This record gives sequence, C-alpha cells and structure tokens, in this order.
Amino acid sequence: MRITLTGIKADVGSIGGHLKPSAGLIDAVRASVKRDGKGLLIDHYVSSTGDDVAILMTHEHGVDCDRIHKLAWDAFLAGTEVAKAQGLYGAGQDLLSDAFSGNAKGLGPAVAEMEFEERPNEPFLLFTADKTEPGAYNLPLYLAFADPMYNAGLALAPAIGKGFTFTVMDVDHTNGDRVIELSTPEESYDLVALLRDNGRFVIESIRSRHDGDIAAASCTTRLKNIAGTYVGKDDPIMIVRTQKSFPATGEILAPFEIAHLVSGFMRGSHTGSLMPVKASSGVSFFDGPPIVSCMAFSVQNGKLTEPVDAFDHPYWDWVRDKASLKSHHIRQQGFSGPAMLGYHELEYGGIRHRMKDLDERFVVRSDG
Ligand code: F6R
Ligand code: MG
Ligand code: MG
Repeated sequence: MRITLTGIKADVGSIGGHLKPSAGLIDAVRASVKRDGKGLLIDHYVSSTGDDVAILMTHEHGVDCDRIHKLAWDAFLAGTEVAKAQGLYGAGQDLLSDAFSGNAKGLGPAVAEMEFEERPNEPFLLFTADKTEPGAYNLPLYLAFADPMYNAGLALAPAIGKGFTFTVMDVDHTNGDRVIELSTPEESYDLVALLRDNGRFVIESIRSRHDGDIAAASCTTRLKNIAGTYVGKDDPIMIVRTQKSFPATGEILAPFEIAHLVSGFMRGSHTGSLMPVKASSGVSFFDGPPIVSCMAFSVQNGKLTEPVDAFDHPYWDWVRDKASLKSHHIRQQGFSGPAMLGYHELEYGGIRHRMKDLDERFVVRSDG
C-alpha cells in the first residue's frame, strides 16, 4: 500500500512563557484533527515538545496535499482559540498568515512529509525539537547515514553500503527552493562543506542509492524569512524510516549522544547543547536548553501502533546530564563569543537600533 506520512508542528501558545502548551490546547488540537480527519486520514497522533504541538498524520493523498495541510492548520487555529481563552503566551504565534493559502509550508508551521510504498514491516521515527533550527539535524543525519563510526551497516550490510543521496536546501534563498543533490560516499566532503553551516544549508531529504526509496524528510522553513522579523526559532520536525536498507533505529539515535551545540537557546539567539528528552518534555533553564524528542512507530496499511519513547531509557539519562554540563559551560560566558549567535543570526531586532545609534557615535581619528 502506498501511504504518506505528514508531520506538522507549530507553537500556538504555552503556559508560563514559552515553556509548554496546556492540556486544554492539546486536547483542542486532537479533537479538531479527529473531527476533520474523518474520511481523509487513516490515522493520526498528537504530541508536544517544549512549547510546540506536533500532528502526525497517515493518509493516501501524497505530499503537499491542500486538504491535509488545511486540516492541520484548522487544528492549530482550534488550539489558538483555547490559548487565547486561557491567556497562554504567544497564542497563535506560528500561524503567520491570517488566511490559509493551500500549503502550510512557508506560512509558519514546520512540515516534514514523505510518500512511499509500505514495506511488510514499516518502522519509522518522528523527531520533534524545540529552541533550535532545522539545521540542528544536519550533523546527526550525516553521521547516521554516512559515517561508519555511527552506522555499522555501511560496512556490514551491502544495501546500506551503496550509500545515500542527500537533497540539501539553501534556506537563505527566499525566491524559490534552491537545492542540490549530493551522494555519499563519493561526495561526502562536498556534503560536509555545506552541512557545517546549519543556519544556511539544511538536509531536506535522504534517499537510498540501493533502491531510490525515501529514508528521511526534514522541514526546511525559516520563520525569519517568512515573517521578515523575529517570530521564534523554527523548531524542526523530521521523519526517518529505519531498518533493512536504511540505517537501524539505534544507528539513527546514536549521534544524538553527542548532544552537539546548536543555535536557538534563549531568544533564539544563543548556543546550547541539544538534549535528547522524553516525549512531552517542556523547557526550563534559560528558556531551554534546546531539546529533541523521538517517538518510534510501526505502521501497517497506514494504521499506527502506539509510540515507543526512544529517549526514555537509562542510557539517555546520562546523555541528558552530559548535555546539561555542556550547556552550563557555554552559559558561563554569557554574551561573549560563540555563546551568543553572530550578528546576522540574532533574532531580536532591538540590537539593530542599538548598533545603528552606536555606529553614528563612532569617530575615525585623524592621523598624527
Ligand atoms: C521562544 C523563545 C524564548 C523567547 C523569550 C522572550 O521560543 O525561545 O526564549 O524568545 O522568552 O520572549 P518574548 O520576546 O516573547 O518576551
Ligand atoms: Mg515559542
Ligand atoms: Mg518552540
């Protein structure tokens, strides 16, 4: 059976600042998806990570389907109504357009979706992250799909050893989608040259070179480019199929042990360690730290199993402690150097006015 997995995620309001959506908000989103999904969806699952709500949907209508995107949009509007009624902070903040215009991409919510012929056994992972940006997945995806230090299958399983084709988007380009395809292992170094810049080049999808099947799809929106001003970080969503000719689930999870430093901590303007957390975790310290959760599903004829919370395991408790320590270390230097993002990545406009005022006060000394 040919099915589509669509994951759409948005911040439409949370309790106590940008910490976590209310149960009422999540219930409203769930009820709306359930009502509007009748006859359109095969199955769905609603979850939260930090201050964002994610809707996972299975259906037969392919990617970029207006009706599916509108269903999610309307569910976020229903959540926004509750957010407003409860006085939640940032009510409706990621719904950047007043009227839905056919596709949730480019409007605010983060979208990851893929269509494929279901395998007899179909495991996949749904990643949702908060207080970070889509490029946060660049390093873990590269390591899981292209580095034998993380993916033992590259050496041990011939289908995986054929390598993968990465589609990478230049998210600074606002006039249409600017993309490039690079295949590993031959073009690994070219790929790394792009992926080092998480703020600009983002992995959009990955396909197997063994059979051309889609393995991973990630969101590539940048709210800054859509709204032209700061409206929060892009808090990315990603779907990854696993096993057989794709990396094993554990190979996809393994690079998250690094808890690498990413952008998006406090005011979308600081660097912090990406902490793998349990599903439904909120945020706290310094409006963070940046977090990622992962729910593992199996699907058959579009019907989802209950999820397994992939980071709910004692091993990840140790990783969480390590991530706290990494964030603690960089927080010790406050605004200095790499702790705060570079000038063009700062997401609060106020500093531009400050810099303009200061610029006018600079003087160039005359010689002598
Ligand atoms: C939001 C976020 C927060 C806010 C901060 C200030 O996802 O990352 O760190 O940027 O709480 O929010 P405002 O400017 O809305 O008071
Ligand atoms: Mg937010
Ligand atoms: Mg968020």
